[in-house]
Amino acid sequence: MSSSTITIAPSLLAADFSDLRGQIALAEKGGADWIHLDVMDGHFVPNITIGPPVIRSLRAHTSLPFDVHLMIGNPDLYLEDFRNAGADSITVHYETCPHLHRTVQRIKSLGARAGVCVNPATPEQLLSDIIADADMILIMSVNPGFGGQSFIPSSIDKIRRTAAMVRSAHPGIALEVDGGIDETTARPVVAAGATVLVAGKAIFGSRDIPSAVRSLRATALAG
Ligand code: DX5
Ligand code: ZN
Repeated sequence: MSSSTITIAPSLLAADFSDLRGQIALAEKGGADWIHLDVMDGHFVPNITIGPPVIRSLRAHTSLPFDVHLMIGNPDLYLEDFRNAGADSITVHYETCPHLHRTVQRIKSLGARAGVCVNPATPEQLLSDIIADADMILIMSVNPGFGGQSFIPSSIDKIRRTAAMVRSAHPGIALEVDGGIDETTARPVVAAGATVLVAGKAIFGSRDIPSAVRSLRATALAG
């Protein structure tokens, strides 16, 4: 099933970190819907990125929703900090949350949208008891930690299966896909049922960031 509208969420991981404010402005000019912020701790994933202070300092410079993807151990310790910094949605990994139901309720009680994510090797069926509570499901189509990786082809079937689960358990919530989304993969991912596309390299690796946003949306909806 494909959607008639699609949410484009450029990932700042691939942006020029010396000018994040300017890079957000360019994505916004191209019609980006959300800004995706990848938070990595060097433990759950082998990379370290940004935390609440950076998010807080960018918050005043755009009205676009901040879609915060937590790739950190023990995310419960930091949910309030990220919400206070300006996160509109907070996505946690199934693999980092032993008490996922509690974590999701906590995110919602803070007034943010609660996302739940699975790594490529984690079966989507493990989400069956949380979909009804979640505001968004995120399927990783690369192993998290780095931008610019190749899309894992088996993700297409996984997205299709997850979309079917969402349709039966909690229709209308967002189904986000993250990793290796570009002009080639965007259309099949949307055709499989994704409603939110995260893209780093395909947008911020472009010499013309506003056109890259427009072009990715057009490609995703073509056909
Ligand atoms: C990977 C991050 C992604 C990443 C996507 O761990 O969660 O958001 O930035 O980057 P691209 O689109 O370059 O694969
Ligand atoms: Zn991400």
